[in-house]
Amino acid sequence: MARILLGVSGGIAAYRAIELARLLTRASHGVRVLMTPTAERFVGRPSFDGIVGGPVLIDEFERDPLGGRFPGEEPADHDPISHLELAARADAYLVAPASANTIAKLAAGICDSMLTTSFVACRAPRAVAPAMNDRMLRDPAIEANLATLAAFSSRRVARASRSTPCGSSATAPAGGWGSRSRSAPPPAAPMSCWWPPTSIFRAQERSAGST
Ligand SMILES: Cc1cc2nc3c(=O)[nH]c(=O)nc-3n(C[C@H](O)[C@H](O)[C@H](O)COP(=O)(O)O)c2cc1C
Repeated sequence: MARILLGVSGGIAAYRAIELARLLTRASHGVRVLMTPTAERFVGRPSFDGIVGGPVLIDEFERDPLGGRFPGEEPADHDPISHLELAARADAYLVAPASANTIAKLAAGICDSMLTTSFVACRAPRAVAPAMNDRMLRDPAIEANLATLAAFSSRRVARASRSTPCGSSATAPAGGWGSRSRSAPPPAAPMSCWWPPTSIFRAQERSAGST
């Protein structure tokens, strides 16, 4: 199955990434989790470690005990640079939840953590699942950053939902949207909630019998 990088940034919805990691792992995908330092204030590494069967990475200078491999793969016979090795081996990279801050960094190509550096280095299909308060999502700067990411061929995923982790209301087109086209415009409807942000993996989840 697929090797998936799951980037988790700092926001209330970070706890939902734990369930997402469980679903992807249960669907037999190999999952490595990369967190921002702020994400650790919302969820702990051990939860992900136990679910995906591999260590969470945060700092690009920390040594990866798996040597850039995914759970279930043969261990590396050398000590590669983790962010490059993981990015090269990944079949897909999903940042969920993607905070406003991390979206801005990804749109600007900033590389200051394992999550951001690997994202920039990754040539596999990439997706972000914006998760933030409606008012934040509607800010022109955030919209511009999302449009920039879309122009860079990063897919955006979201689910139609009326409730957000922080309790505000949100509207979204059913099924969310995504485009790898340079001409694709950003969506008009506000979306602040994602769950599960897995439209690109939905088929695999169904086949594994997930609910
Ligand atoms: C309680 C709390 C909840 C937050 N929830 C969100 C959120 O849902 N989305 C978001 O974009 N930022 C949220 N923030 C702000 C981010 O944590 C902050 O912008 C941080 O710098 C993000 O860092 P990161 O993108 O490196 O993970 C929240 C902050 C706090 C204190």
